[in-house]
Amino acid sequence: MIHIAIDGPAGSGKSTIAKKVANKLNIKYLDSGALYRIIGYFFKEKKNTLDENTIKETLDKLSISLKDDFYIVNGEKIDKQIRTANSGNYASTVAKIPEVREKVNLILRNISEKMSTVIDGRDIGTVVLPNAEYKFFLTASAEERAKRRFNELIEKGEDVNYNLILKEIKERDFNDTTRNIAPLKCAKDAIEIDTTSKNIDDVLKEILNYIDGDFDESKGC
Ligand code: CDP
Ligand code: CDP
Repeated sequence: MIHIAIDGPAGSGKSTIAKKVANKLNIKYLDSGALYRIIGYFFKEKKNTLDENTIKETLDKLSISLKDDFYIVNGEKIDKQIRTANSGNYASTVAKIPEVREKVNLILRNISEKMSTVIDGRDIGTVVLPNAEYKFFLTASAEERAKRRFNELIEKGEDVNYNLILKEIKERDFNDTTRNIAPLKCAKDAIEIDTTSKNIDDVLKEILNYIDGDFDESKGC
């Protein structure tokens, strides 16, 4: 079995690259951010609260499992609902709660015990799978990441404002890097790749080259 951690801030290209790496190596891709989005979405949209105590008390009632490539939440397939900017903010709020992080980590580790995985997130290399064989930390300037999100939404035909997206990205970066528990940071043995002026194929090639034999932890953060 092999395990690959791909961490980094919003819009650095983690999920796009992680899916392609998983596809190339024919192993399972797990989106850890989706789990935080699901928990945020469930409490905000279904219970109308993001109150920490309420979440802690009722978290056990939330059952999340993986079926094929989708998470099933209390029997319901959840996917598109959690891809909104609001869900990203709810995710960032619930991600500060230790019990929420424990629940997410358990799901990710249970699956990874049984099979090879590529997981993308914020703390995969540092906390979730500290012994992962390969760790990557993707970055890009906030402006480039906002531009990527902007283009993505324009393509979907949504009415978007670049400055608002940039503001939201910066807020989430601040939240994720300054929280006390499992903050976003590059693991000591992770290879950092600045993707600001690299396209998806360049980054994919670089990662596959590292996995093919060039991986040298001493080049890590
Ligand atoms: O795709 P994007 O990078 O915008 O977000 P995401 O990966 O779906 O994650 C949403 C939020 O969940 C992040 O801003 C983090 O606050 C939180 N998260 C986390 O704390 N730890 C992870 N391993 C993954 C996500
Ligand atoms: O998962 P994360 O939030 O880190 O980013 P993503 O959802 O994989 O990528 C955000 C957008 O940037 C997608 O539309 C990608 O196609 C695009 N992207 C890019 O243009 N160049 C890269 N090197 C990486 C991603």
